[in-house]
Amino acid sequence: MNLSVVANTCLTVNSADKSIYYLTLSAPENSSESFSYEAGDWLTVQPENSPEMVSGILEELALTGDEAIELRRAGLVTSQQALQKHLELTQLNPAILNKLQRQMGLGDWAGRQAMMDYAFGRDILDLLALYPDLKKLGLEFLNFLSPLSPRYYSIASAPVNAAEVSILYKAVQYKTNQRMRYGVASSMLQNCKQNEVLQVELKSNPTFKLPANSETPIIMVGAGTGLAPYIGFMQSREQSVLSGELAGEALLFFGETYQKTNCLFCDEFKRWQAQRLVDCYYAFSRDQADKIYVQHHIVEQAEKVWALINSGAHFYICGSQTQLAESVKQTMLALFQSHGSMSVEDAQEFWLALKREKRLQMDVY
Ligand SMILES: Cc1cc2nc3c(=O)[nH]c(=O)nc-3n(C[C@H](O)[C@H](O)[C@H](O)COP(=O)(O)OP(=O)(O)OC[C@H]3O[C@@H](n4cnc5c(N)ncnc54)[C@H](O)[C@@H]3O)c2cc1C
Ligand SMILES: NC(=O)c1ccc[n+]([C@@H]2O[C@H](COP(=O)([O-])OP(=O)(O)OC[C@H]3O[C@@H](n4cnc5c(N)ncnc54)[C@H](OP(=O)(O)O)[C@@H]3O)[C@@H](O)[C@H]2O)c1
Repeated sequence: MNLSVVANTCLTVNSADKSIYYLTLSAPENSSESFSYEAGDWLTVQPENSPEMVSGILEELALTGDEAIELRRAGLVTSQQALQKHLELTQLNPAILNKLQRQMGLGDWAGRQAMMDYAFGRDILDLLALYPDLKKLGLEFLNFLSPLSPRYYSIASAPVNAAEVSILYKAVQYKTNQRMRYGVASSMLQNCKQNEVLQVELKSNPTFKLPANSETPIIMVGAGTGLAPYIGFMQSREQSVLSGELAGEALLFFGETYQKTNCLFCDEFKRWQAQRLVDCYYAFSRDQADKIYVQHHIVEQAEKVWALINSGAHFYICGSQTQLAESVKQTMLALFQSHGSMSVEDAQEFWLALKREKRLQMDVY
């Protein structure tokens, strides 16, 4: 569906380490577009590769852009269209390395993990630089590339204003081998101006939802852009309270780098805290010599956390899968042992039971 940009605001102005934006979209004026979603759902964006990236690859492969190529999903297109709209160029999918190793005997990666480690932070131009012989494949090289996938973003609003939907996204930018790299979707979003029309989809996420009963307590744990769904959760709970429902206790454990520049949605959460809708615990990892992460605050609040879990709280984790989610899981397993007098095995079974009962919900990436 086509939605137009209402606002695209950088929340981390002056932050040295990253730029995080809040993007709000609505149906374009005079359009019949209507949409519905719930807090916790996703918005997807189908990106297009930048002209610089496309021309860079065409040049390396000595292609004009007019060659015809049949792609499995897109059908017959020109090489230029294939590179712009249909093939992944900014990410080096480990599956490509696997294919190159199996079919052409390239590379000495020991297994999938080695391929993943190699692929992180590299793109298709890096691959052509590493194995210049691949350039001789010309058009045929495109058959090794993966289809350009839509990017998922956790919705960072609730449909209280049904005409709008928002996301919180990090602009992916980094430098490797003296060359700046820009994430294909996040840089497209970063360049969006007010009133510009974007093609997006809304996707339901039934496994990341507020409890059916607003009186059920909730514990929200997130870091970085992992705050996104909790903005929607809080807007939704505020709406429930305004319409006369009671709200159960809510805790937010949120982690970012620096309080001064990266305290995302701080004023809104302060307001919700003043309304006694939530208690916030912030972990700013780089404001002191030793790292402070959300799990340190969970440990400090262990008694409260355990009491809420015992009284039926739903527990949410959103953000990094490999770092945040794994660390929080280990912290919670230790908490079950210390406060619930469980063995290691029982704690693990309790974690799985919370998952089965949909009281433990994760949106991690
Ligand atoms: C379920 C789900 C929910 C998500 N929700 C959000 C969200 O709410 N907000 C959000 O911002 N993102 C979210 N993401 C991530 C998002 O979908 C995209 O992956 C992200 O925006 C990057 O896409 P891109 O096209 O800009 O970057 P790409 O062009 O895909 O480039 C990404 C690649 O760049 C490399 N890279 C990235 N950072 C670095 C670095 N620091 N150093 C070296 N290399 C690096 C890696 O190789 C990585 O694979 C979510 C993902 C999933 C699966
Ligand atoms: N595929 C992509 O290109 C892409 C794009 C966007 C986001 N993401 C991923 O999405 C996630 C969110 O990114 P983000 O930059 O918003 O946030 P982030 O990198 O997860 O960082 C947010 C906070 O979490 C802290 N942190 C680091 N390790 C932690 C751990 N083990 N436990 C708890 N907290 C920890 C960070 O501290 P320090 O940094 O100070 O250690 C920082 O204060 C990350 O996984 C990120 O890689 C990926």
